[in-house]
Amino acid sequence: MRAIRGATTVPADEPAAIRAAVKELLQEIAAANALREEDILFILFSNTADIRSLYPAKAAREAGFVRPALFSAAEPVIDGSLPLCIRVLVMAEGEGRVRHVYLRGAAGLRKDLKKFAVALDGPSGSGKSTVAKLLAARLNILYLDTGAMYRACALKVSAAGLPVTEEAVAPVMQGLDLKIEYENGAQRTVLDGRDVSEEIRRPEVSMAASRVSALRCVREKMVALQREIAAERSLVLDGRDIGSFVLPDAEFKFFITASSEVRAKRRYDELRAKGFAVDLAALQQEIEERDRNDSTREFSPLRRADDAVLIDTSCLTVEQVVSAVLCKIQEKV
Ligand code: DC
Repeated sequence: MRAIRGATTVPADEPAAIRAAVKELLQEIAAANALREEDILFILFSNTADIRSLYPAKAAREAGFVRPALFSAAEPVIDGSLPLCIRVLVMAEGEGRVRHVYLRGAAGLRKDLKKFAVALDGPSGSGKSTVAKLLAARLNILYLDTGAMYRACALKVSAAGLPVTEEAVAPVMQGLDLKIEYENGAQRTVLDGRDVSEEIRRPEVSMAASRVSALRCVREKMVALQREIAAERSLVLDGRDIGSFVLPDAEFKFFITASSEVRAKRRYDELRAKGFAVDLAALQQEIEERDRNDSTREFSPLRRADDAVLIDTSCLTVEQVVSAVLCKIQEKV
């Protein structure tokens, strides 16, 4: 059983406005939670006392919600509460993720549902992507792996056999067809219409990504795309310059790091588990070289934003890092 909450506001106490608002709210709740009408057991509405011209439950019936039991109640008058507001609780069959829906200014009711960004920056192998994925799942928002975007650029540049220079790569960036899609919450990186999510994880792509990501033309293109994606929804983003450059106004910023030995060992275990033959010492050397590349490049280098919380994960488990990050977020909300 799922209990899904939502709220919306109406511009005026008029039946047509109430009908439209209720219909929109229920449709958004159904879409966000993949609900069919037969999954819904009952719907409870409440509305502020300044709504008098139509019961939201009646509006829902009129909008075609004929099966579920409906109930409407007026709320007491409370000073300072959001005016002309309709709240809903939808009880539905089934298990799984619940997405509450707050529309038309009603988001102000729930601070935690306002759009926000969590920036997780740090060097390669610090564990940020594992943490970012878990964190996004806990916060019920999407995760954007920005490294995957630079990896896709590297793939494109090496497939074209181009040298890693501004002159050679700039025209490729202009016509780049790179899309970030989500499938059941998981990111798919689509280059020229092809899903390259697996291919970009190949070890040789890591170093190539570090090199192309130093080019201004590549960064400008990727940063614009990252800002576009973040403008539309709440996100956990991991990268090198998210808090310092891409989203300097991100609500929550963390800098995740660990010693190069620990990071090399983690990459080693990860790649071995995927069946790649790798050498630990060579990996550590490569990680240190990528650190140098990433932090010494001229344009938007790897850097801890002044207001980012530093977390050294060398001696922490993934779960401990996730808890520490969640704790900091909750402190600030
Ligand atoms: O996080 P990763 O290993 O998948 O990133 C691949 C490379 O891309 C990394 O060497 C640095 C670069 N990168 C970057 O410069 N800025 C980002 N926001 C993310 C990654």
